[in-house]
Amino acid sequence: MSLLLNRTVFGDPSKKGNTLSRTAAENLFMDWVLNPRLQLHMKQVAHLMKCWAAEREQLDEAGQWQWEMTGLLHDADWDQWPDLHCKKIIAELEQRNIDPDIIHAIASHGPNHFGVEPVTTMGKMLFAFDELSGLIHAYSLMRPGGYDGMELKGVKKRLKERSFAANVSREEIDDACLRAGISLDELINFIIARQRDVMNG
Ligand SMILES: [Fe+2]
Ligand SMILES: [Fe+2]
Repeated sequence: MSLLLNRTVFGDPSKKGNTLSRTAAENLFMDWVLNPRLQLHMKQVAHLMKCWAAEREQLDEAGQWQWEMTGLLHDADWDQWPDLHCKKIIAELEQRNIDPDIIHAIASHGPNHFGVEPVTTMGKMLFAFDELSGLIHAYSLMRPGGYDGMELKGVKKRLKERSFAANVSREEIDDACLRAGISLDELINFIIARQRDVMNG
């Protein structure tokens, strides 16, 4: 079963700037994503994206929402339609006339799976946050204090331990940092500081 998208152009360029309203995005999220663990992952990535857009890219509220929405919906079809992962959410967003940059960023969140390279900063950061966010969350769950007192060196130790969160590709994380032009340390520190804000439920 191939998840390759076999195209690199998404959406309609004349729809630039179009987003779903927050309510519409949350409704789609609730309808499509039933697994609480996946819901949490998507909310965490959404929050990281929003924080990065605000703090590092100095985007206004509309720009921040574009990043947040991209994070919130990037795995929307994974829960119920894993064979259609990415295809279904892309089709939905195209049909709803959403900004092509948002659709492209979602399409490029797994270049090795979907065959689409991230091109925008938004796409590159989505790719960078995606896997590392999950590994750091797994680490928080095994620490008595969760995110309290979590340090860079602890996360790096877990990264070196191949058996820890073994499904998370270390190569992809390195590749994602390279593409985004940020260091692994910077990315880890950002996630440690921000991800704790998002709790389940
Ligand atoms: Fe995914
Ligand atoms: Fe994801």
